[in-house]
Amino acid sequence: MKNIAVAGTGYVGLVTGVCMAENGHNVTCVDIDEQKVQTMRAGISPIFEAGLEELMKKNIESGKLHFTTEFAAAYKEAEAVFIGVGTPEKKDGSADLKYIATVAKQVAESLEKDCLVVIKSTVPVGTNDKIEKFINDFLVNDVRVEVASNPEFLAQGSAVKDTLEADRIVIGTESKWAEEILTSVYKPFGIPIVSVNRRTAEMIKYASNDFLALKISYMNDIANLCELVGADIQDVAKGMSYDDRIGDKFLNAGIGYGGSCFPKDTSALEFLARQHGYDLRTIKATIDINTEQKLKLFEKARQQLITFNGIKVAVLGLTFKPGTDDLREAPSLANVPLLLEQGADIYAYDPVGGDNFKEFYPEGNHSQGEITYVDNPETALEEASVCFIFTEWGEIKAITPKRYKDLMRSPLVFDGRNIYGVQEMADNGVEYHSIGRPLVKNK
Ligand code: UDX
Repeated sequence: MKNIAVAGTGYVGLVTGVCMAENGHNVTCVDIDEQKVQTMRAGISPIFEAGLEELMKKNIESGKLHFTTEFAAAYKEAEAVFIGVGTPEKKDGSADLKYIATVAKQVAESLEKDCLVVIKSTVPVGTNDKIEKFINDFLVNDVRVEVASNPEFLAQGSAVKDTLEADRIVIGTESKWAEEILTSVYKPFGIPIVSVNRRTAEMIKYASNDFLALKISYMNDIANLCELVGADIQDVAKGMSYDDRIGDKFLNAGIGYGGSCFPKDTSALEFLARQHGYDLRTIKATIDINTEQKLKLFEKARQQLITFNGIKVAVLGLTFKPGTDDLREAPSLANVPLLLEQGADIYAYDPVGGDNFKEFYPEGNHSQGEITYVDNPETALEEASVCFIFTEWGEIKAITPKRYKDLMRSPLVFDGRNIYGVQEMADNGVEYHSIGRPLVKNK
């Protein structure tokens, strides 16, 4: 059992803290927001994440999980401090390290005994070296501090499972001392540990995420070609997936990837390459394809309709993927403003993302259009002339093709997630445009 402090209680920090406690460590999670800390002490999670609250409550009750704003007290007792604060993207595509710097300085000023500082946040290659120097420059007491890289590979919505049952744990260290501490922290997890040097660990994180983003953009690229040549991307993906070297995951073509990782991590790697005078063409193409893909259905619809002005448009799904209330880089955020500009009367449905979306687009008028939020998809569809599907929530997949025909004024559906079969939609009298699949006309 180790004394662990975790800085930041977002997706990465909070899930790390909770899973460390679940594996027997004594964990104190630090956040600057007193209100948030009070809520978490009561076992309430500030984020929507399957299984998280149960584990929070369990470990708070057993006395292994604590929350505080008193960072100095938490850090000075810790044998390891995990940093999981945000590294948002700056305008130039580089990662903004100001939150890490703030925490690093606080850690340096608080430490009273030897400590390993572990960076969980995704940071550009070479950053851990800089953080180590930064902390050592600000140290108040004569203690040993090293920095280790320990990237996370969790996906939102399955963050707890992805952490407790990860495929691998990557640790990047520069000394036996650091390697041993981190190895013993992770021993109870019973997961294979890949131990490499720090820069390699940082690169593994970017290379993994960007590879997944590339895989999606590749499938979207092929999907667009499928449309032109009359092939079906879903069947193409199925045919590819039997090859072990390709695998059957992340082959779903759609309206582009979003979220807090892929868009940011592709830009950051491309930026890093540029800084070193290297042209990272694969990732540049990945980003370009994704940007265009997000507007693919809007462009199709625009060609189809004379106008969106005054037309009721159902928007089903606002979050970047199901199972999260996160809207970061969601395709909805690229499309809704364009629809509003064109005067659409939007009825938006999302099982959990509506409140967050309202912060960008409060209910009511915006430019030429209007947006109304509804709490079930059928209300959005009633008398609508067009429907866009942006997220494959179960509640949306549960709508049968017939309901589109029954409810809509004209059953014209643009599906960014390929939820339905093209033939079943046609059989039910729905004009159905999806991604990378043939348009089947109802005879
Ligand atoms: C991702 C990685 O999966 C995770 O390992 C990393 O640590 C953080 O980034 P996350 O952003 O939570 O996790 O979501 P993920 O489930 O990977 O989906 C990302 C985006 O890709 C979503 O917008 C999703 O809709 C899209 N996607 C995913 C596709 O378009 N097609 C696919 O086949 C898979």
